[in-house]
Amino acid sequence: MQENIRALREKTLAALREAESSRALYELKVGFQSELKKVMSGMRELSKEERPAFGKLVNELKESMEEAFEGRAAEIREKEMQAKYAAERIDVTMPGRKFRPGALHPVTIVKNQLIDIFAGMGFKVYEGPEVETDYYNFTALNTPEDHPARDMQDTFYIADKLLLRTQTSAGQIRVMEQEKPPIKILSPGRVFRSDDDATHSPMFHQMEGLVVDRNITLCDLQGMLAEFARRMFDSSTKVRLRPSYFPFTEPSVEVDLSCAECGGKGCRLCKGTGWIEVLGAGMVNRKVLENCNIDPDEYTGFAFGMGIERIAMLKYGINNIRALFENDERFLGQFR
Ligand code: DAH
Repeated sequence: MQENIRALREKTLAALREAESSRALYELKVGFQSELKKVMSGMRELSKEERPAFGKLVNELKESMEEAFEGRAAEIREKEMQAKYAAERIDVTMPGRKFRPGALHPVTIVKNQLIDIFAGMGFKVYEGPEVETDYYNFTALNTPEDHPARDMQDTFYIADKLLLRTQTSAGQIRVMEQEKPPIKILSPGRVFRSDDDATHSPMFHQMEGLVVDRNITLCDLQGMLAEFARRMFDSSTKVRLRPSYFPFTEPSVEVDLSCAECGGKGCRLCKGTGWIEVLGAGMVNRKVLENCNIDPDEYTGFAFGMGIERIAMLKYGINNIRALFENDERFLGQFR
């Protein structure tokens, strides 16, 4: 019996010296405990007189081994910490990684600025869906099927009567169907047309505005546009309205701003005219109001729609719309 105890002690101490990791130590401990149990079960074979002495020896073994395990565990912990420190060491003399902050895209900058300007005049923002029905995008805007104005915009159809909206004007109808005048909304968003050249992209952004109330006139439109032009460009910017045609407005106007580049004297940007066309607008057509159950004898309204890329191109002197979609960091970094 005593021999067994001694052998277990020797064997365990030898193994302890070899154990190099917490894991090995743990396994060793489990092994030791099960062997200790085996030794203790030998107690049954002893006589009553022999048992106390044996019990004492076993206790001594347990205690001394516990101490030995604890001692070795501390050594291993220390070693493992050192190894961890070594592995995680950082070279503080290495050059740092350059921190490159992001920036808003120029289209987003201009969109936010437009929202700021018009929110200051009491407009609320409404965002309509990008996938629209033929009704909202065309029919309700006084552009029924086989109306020639449909050809003004090359439309992407998804299914019969379902399309990618070609204009944020579609949102006008959605708002007028849901709200009673007074209405004063601004509707920014993506629009889609089968169009692609230096000044046209198949996807671009528009900002729509709509005001409906009693006694709204073309003068209100002109005054508001003048304020917009001064705030968006500079305080000397002038506004000019030219007669035009849109099915959903009557009368319709095309709006020019005095050229910011030459101050109206005529240059390459404004093609010598001194004016730059920036948006379409007009008085909401009676038929459109009727389509939304708004009485055109009681209420009138004006609407306008502009291309956000176009405004950004004018404001920042960008001559190719593609620069706004290529995500070239050398270009985008200039707006930081
Ligand atoms: N929806 C027109 C377009 O995409 C722009 C426009 C013109 C919007 C006149 C309007 C408007 O609200 O009154 O070309």
